[in-house]
Amino acid sequence: MAVGSAVGLGNIWKFPYIAGENGGGLFVFVYLICIFLIGLPIFIGELYLGQQGQSNIVDSFKVLDRKKSPWRIIGILGILSAVGILSFYSVVGGWILNYLLIALKFGFESQSEQQISSVLESLFASPQRQIILHFIFMFLTFIIVMRGIGQGIEKASKILMPLFFFLLIGLLIYSFSLKGFGESFQFLFSLNSKKMTVHGFLEAVGHSFFTLSLGMGAIMTYGSYLDKKTNLIKTAFYIGLADTVIALVAGLVIFAIVFTFGLKPEAGPQLMFETLPMLFSKVSGGPIIAIAFFGLVLFAALTSAVSLLQVVVAYFEERFHKSNAYATTICSLVIFLVGVLSALSTNVLSEFYIFKKLTFFDFLDNLSSHYLLPIGGLLISLFFGWKIELNKIKEIFSTSKLAKHYFFILIWSTRVLAPLAITILIIRSTI
Ligand code: TRP
Repeated sequence: MAVGSAVGLGNIWKFPYIAGENGGGLFVFVYLICIFLIGLPIFIGELYLGQQGQSNIVDSFKVLDRKKSPWRIIGILGILSAVGILSFYSVVGGWILNYLLIALKFGFESQSEQQISSVLESLFASPQRQIILHFIFMFLTFIIVMRGIGQGIEKASKILMPLFFFLLIGLLIYSFSLKGFGESFQFLFSLNSKKMTVHGFLEAVGHSFFTLSLGMGAIMTYGSYLDKKTNLIKTAFYIGLADTVIALVAGLVIFAIVFTFGLKPEAGPQLMFETLPMLFSKVSGGPIIAIAFFGLVLFAALTSAVSLLQVVVAYFEERFHKSNAYATTICSLVIFLVGVLSALSTNVLSEFYIFKKLTFFDFLDNLSSHYLLPIGGLLISLFFGWKIELNKIKEIFSTSKLAKHYFFILIWSTRVLAPLAITILIIRSTI
């Protein structure tokens, strides 16, 4: 299920649009380095801490350290991040649902560019529609967690996630024939972009956390379900690779459309919604592909949402000694209510700024990706690097040769590089 958690809207929706806003190539390069040097080591660290702690993210630190361990703050921060992230994630999940419904009703066939971009505009303008779709997405997440992830969703994801991957590869192959493909490739992989700022660096680090579900205990929770024999290094590498390839493929397809139809790469959160339907309106079999695509994105988003909700539920249930059903209901309800403010950020509350002209939606997105997740990651990284005995970490590396080379990176990244890089970037881009 860790793949299900990692692969989601972060790959398909967020990565392309922030790459576009930050000028492409250099941003992508920094992001890839962050995944390899910072993201993967922390991923392994979280898996390890979860596997050893065997409990919810707050209590695991009692097991790993001591009863009144100050490191429990990681868990508390994690719960807050999970609530914040899921509340706006679910609103975007609602947008996907909207497009799936449209695809089911009449596809995007023979729609003009204007018609396609007006779909999102009219959704944004309607408070009722935004809230209802957000409610449905949250309700689906609730149902899945309520039934337990072992019940079907896990089996379904073994079929649907590879299907999603093949569909993306199919779209990539099709996009080779678009005249904007070369430019898309250039945009994402040539290093001479001029738009990159210090803030862009922080965004790249932050996104490497977001896309791998790091920095708030989701992967730790997953690790707590693993038995002690699982090869953590292999698991982390496969997931990191799958997650990165999916994001890059989505980016290539989306920017090929952008450059073919003369759209703007820096369109923002609308980017995927304005581009992909354009492709579906042109290719033969478009309506079917649109249904498959939005259906599978919805599924990927749900498996990510489930991993966020579970962190909150697991803690709430054990901390307050409540039944799973009660904990799941209350947590989902609270998250839904917080999310309503994000759903209203594109209409009723669009002029209501929390901080530096950020709407509630943007504020939560920025707060979590730029601060909460990196700070959570920094603390997890320090805890893993300095508090866990070196010999114990060596043990997890005894399994394969490849792993032995990565040991050095893991240790020095979690001890020094990741904490230092995160601290400097946060300080530099805040003042
Ligand atoms: N990684 C998911 C995505 O890319 C989102 C997600 C799921 C997440 N669980 C998380 C992000 C935990 C941060 C923390 O869409």
